[in-house]
Amino acid sequence: MVFIFCLLLALDALLLVRHFTFRAAIVCEDYSPCVCEVYQPYGLIVHCGDANGDPRLSVSAHDVRNVFNRTTARHIYWLDLLSLSPETTESGDLIKIPADLLSDKTVDRIAVNCSTAAGPLRLEIHPEAFNSSIQHIGHFEVAGCDLSRLKFDFLANTSRLISLSISRSVRFQGFPPALPFVSRLKSLRIYECLDFQHWNEISVRFPQLESLFLDGTLLGDHSVNQLVSSIASSPTGNDTLQQLSLWENKLTRVPDHISSFKKLSYVNFFGNAIRHVPKGSFVFHAGIRVAFLILSKNSLRRIDPGAFQGDFSEASVYIDFNQLTRFDSGVYQNLLEQMHRSASADAGLYVHNNPFACSDCHLAWLIRDNRHLLSRVHGGKCSNGTRFEDLNPKHDDDYNCPSS
Ligand SMILES: *[C@@H]1O[C@H](CO)[C@@H](O)[C@H](O)[C@H]1NC(C)=O
Ligand SMILES: *[C@@H]1O[C@H](CO)[C@@H](O)[C@H](O)[C@H]1NC(C)=O
Ligand SMILES: *[C@@H]1O[C@H](CO)[C@@H](O)[C@H](O)[C@H]1NC(C)=O
Ligand SMILES: *[C@@H]1O[C@H](CO)[C@@H](O)[C@H](O)[C@H]1NC(C)=O
Ligand SMILES: *[C@@H]1O[C@H](CO)[C@@H](O)[C@H](O)[C@H]1NC(C)=O
Ligand SMILES: *[C@@H]1O[C@H](CO)[C@@H](O)[C@H](O)[C@H]1NC(C)=O
Repeated sequence: MVFIFCLLLALDALLLVRHFTFRAAIVCEDYSPCVCEVYQPYGLIVHCGDANGDPRLSVSAHDVRNVFNRTTARHIYWLDLLSLSPETTESGDLIKIPADLLSDKTVDRIAVNCSTAAGPLRLEIHPEAFNSSIQHIGHFEVAGCDLSRLKFDFLANTSRLISLSISRSVRFQGFPPALPFVSRLKSLRIYECLDFQHWNEISVRFPQLESLFLDGTLLGDHSVNQLVSSIASSPTGNDTLQQLSLWENKLTRVPDHISSFKKLSYVNFFGNAIRHVPKGSFVFHAGIRVAFLILSKNSLRRIDPGAFQGDFSEASVYIDFNQLTRFDSGVYQNLLEQMHRSASADAGLYVHNNPFACSDCHLAWLIRDNRHLLSRVHGGKCSNGTRFEDLNPKHDDDYNCPSS
């Protein structure tokens, strides 16, 4: 009995080895009219469709189903469905993905893109469209779709889905109730969905969320403030959220409560219109190493001492493309010293394209007294074009300043 059990184990091991050797040597069979490529070490990527409306290249959902019924590779890493053509002329602007699209195949990542030269097509997905892969799908994304017909029930029974992205789409109605996968998502990205209004669901429905990217949604100060404070006071903000990105949201000020997030290490406010960063705006919690703090392309004129607090030893901090004239020790010295002490090559402060005033004494702390910190400041220039590195620390006129 024991012998047979061992033999079975050995056979299993052999099968595993064969499986892996087979995977290592994986090649594309004929997926036409789709196109296949090998993406080492992950597996196959299959692209179906064409956005340019060339009828010779047009692929319908039924063509895709035939492809997977015919081909033999059991597992696809990434399936990319790009502007599938509507089945019949009656279906007009509607892409309908039928049941059992993948035959018996499994897929890790699925992307559906509905954009055409004529605008977004409506997307409808049968609840059993991906049923062979329901235990496998880890990431799903839609782009350029009219989502008025999309219920997310085709994802309802997924067990590994952790990442969802919805971009450049219209008529996104939010997530219907009773979708268990929602509470397991770790990453949610909503990008350039200008009519997105369902931000108030986020704090209650995504208790495991680690990354929230709500970019290009133009929500404005009021909505963002409510969103951020509701997440900050929820278990998500307390226990899980690490990355928060809100670029291009018409913010004119830093949302309150950023400092309440306990796990946050990545903040991106690129492309807003924030003018002033008050003291305590970004206080990262003890035990958290800041990875990125991005305030590029805002309208920053003033940053107060103590605006940035926490462990910045490995951080990349971007305040480039703003209107800053001052570079005060109370804002930056502590950050730069942490970066200087750490061995991390990436840690740095990126300040390109700000009209810093160098003709008064306020830079003496850096140029004269702490030159060793200059190597962590990237792109510092005076309003007259002289680089920080080229300022002469001994120049009497410039740095005949009182000691700091
Ligand atoms: C969707 O397709 C359009 C047209 O090809 C393309 O411009 C766009 O980048 C695609 N979006 C994504 C997220 O892949
Ligand atoms: C798959 O292929 C088999 C054999 O070629 C065929 O009988 C069957 O109808 C096909 N199924 C689908 C869903 O197209
Ligand atoms: C999901 O699973 C439940 C329970 O097994 C089942 O009743 C339901 O029909 C399934 N939903 C879909 C869309 O497959
Ligand atoms: C998926 O759904 C199709 C059509 O409803 C069905 O024929 C097939 O057996 C289902 N497959 C799995 C794995 O549930
Ligand atoms: C946040 O976590 C702390 C323990 O780490 C706990 O005492 C507190 O009640 C939590 N707050 C919320 C809003 O979950
Ligand atoms: C720019 O200003 C600084 C500080 O006043 C001065 O040292 C430098 O020579 C000036 N550069 C030019 C090109 O005028």
